[in-house]
Amino acid sequence: MPVIVVVGGQWGDEGKGRIVDLLAEKAHVVARYSAGNNAGHTIINELGEFKLHLVPAGIFYPEKVCVIGNGVVIDPPVLLKEIEDLESRGVAVRGRLFISDRAHVLMPWHRLIDELDEKLRGHGAIGTTGRGVGPAFVDKVGRAGVRIADLVDREALLQSLSFLVPYKNVVLEKLYDVPPLRLEDVRAEYADYGERLEPFVTDTSALVQESLRNGETVLLEGAQGSLLDLDMGTYEYVTSSVPSSLAAGAAIGIGIGPTQIDHVVGVYKCYNTRVGNGPMPTELLDETGTLLREGGPRPEYGSTTGRPRRCGWFDAVAARYSARMNGLTRAALTRLDVLDPLPVIKVCTAYRVDGRTLKTLPASGAALARAEPVYEELPGWRRDTAGVRRFDHLPPEAREYVRYIEGVLATPICLVSVGPERDQAIPMKGII
Ligand code: GDP
Ligand code: IMO
Ligand code: MG
Repeated sequence: MPVIVVVGGQWGDEGKGRIVDLLAEKAHVVARYSAGNNAGHTIINELGEFKLHLVPAGIFYPEKVCVIGNGVVIDPPVLLKEIEDLESRGVAVRGRLFISDRAHVLMPWHRLIDELDEKLRGHGAIGTTGRGVGPAFVDKVGRAGVRIADLVDREALLQSLSFLVPYKNVVLEKLYDVPPLRLEDVRAEYADYGERLEPFVTDTSALVQESLRNGETVLLEGAQGSLLDLDMGTYEYVTSSVPSSLAAGAAIGIGIGPTQIDHVVGVYKCYNTRVGNGPMPTELLDETGTLLREGGPRPEYGSTTGRPRRCGWFDAVAARYSARMNGLTRAALTRLDVLDPLPVIKVCTAYRVDGRTLKTLPASGAALARAEPVYEELPGWRRDTAGVRRFDHLPPEAREYVRYIEGVLATPICLVSVGPERDQAIPMKGII
């Protein structure tokens, strides 16, 4: 009856959705615990390709229960559309998707403020996904949020909006110089969403605890990546999720205790990517960077915004750091196939900053921006791995590379993926 957290080890988009899709087969409950629809998780199965933003990746197994926990911020029209799209493609959602009554609601001013604030920041823009998720978490912390429990209660919603709409209009009009929102419009629109979402709403912490009492396996699906975490990531170019996007946030974001977590699986790409702004020491602006972005199936473009992802060599300094921050018990590696054509593969083992050699991630963003990567070179394999299903069938250089990363993370690797399709995976040391 383990509780397993799946967490991104880099700057997001490591392939968490694809790994959760594989692990979900043996779980009973699959739950999202943080972030909002800034996340985009790609799952490819017999029904086609799906990009999930709020619904957990377990939804494709008809007998699994899926939960959107209290730590998630929910944009109602986005969730309703996602449910509708899944249903129209033959995926049953009703009766098996449950939403926490304590989750926060993303309101129309959050989307506006996200966009306006990025403009106001000018050169200091974060490069957010523009979905309003950051401002929604700011309001959660600022005790000016609307929760799902209020959304589904007409009286509570009216009371809450009667305070919040004029309060937020001051910010919109005086700070950003845009027209105010009308209380009645917002109330009518969100009361309708509340009515439509009400059948999904429950105390999901109680649901998960009940499942654990019954000896079931619970999979907690992380969003974003460790280097985007508000506390431990590359501040201020991070996301604003509270609770944290690290594994430790999973307990709070789903309503269990930290002692109830048995395994933490860190997902890493075999190289690095980042969308949005902020330092990335191993970024490649040359033809190798282009090859990493465009090579192999499913090129590196954001699942949520479609922006090209910045690509570079595997950063072992940052990876070792994130493995530690999450207390990993296992790691999963993705996109090994993308490295197939390369004659030489580089790994960043240290940073040179102002004449000093650093082996860990500096707190200072300015120092990280100046960091020059120190590389170790490993031989490439220049053979197709997409069809390989057993570790000992990989080319020796590919095995060496996987073992090298395992050493960096000081964590056993449980799975290597060699393509985006469900079966393109090499199982290694088990978890469940
Ligand atoms: P997530 O946000 O961590 O779930 O990751 P995304 O879905 O945003 O991005 C991962 C991308 O890599 C998706 O397009 C996946 O289909 C794709 N992908 C996952 N694993 C592999 C793999 O092993 N090889 C290749 N070529 N693509 C993969
Ligand atoms: P998944 O779950 C990659 C990045 C944005 C930006 C920063 C802040 O698919 O891995 P935000 O909209 O959160 O205020 O943007 O965080 N970001 C992600 N990058 N994958 C994600 O999610 C991300 N969620 C946020 O690009 O740099
Ligand atoms: Mg993604």
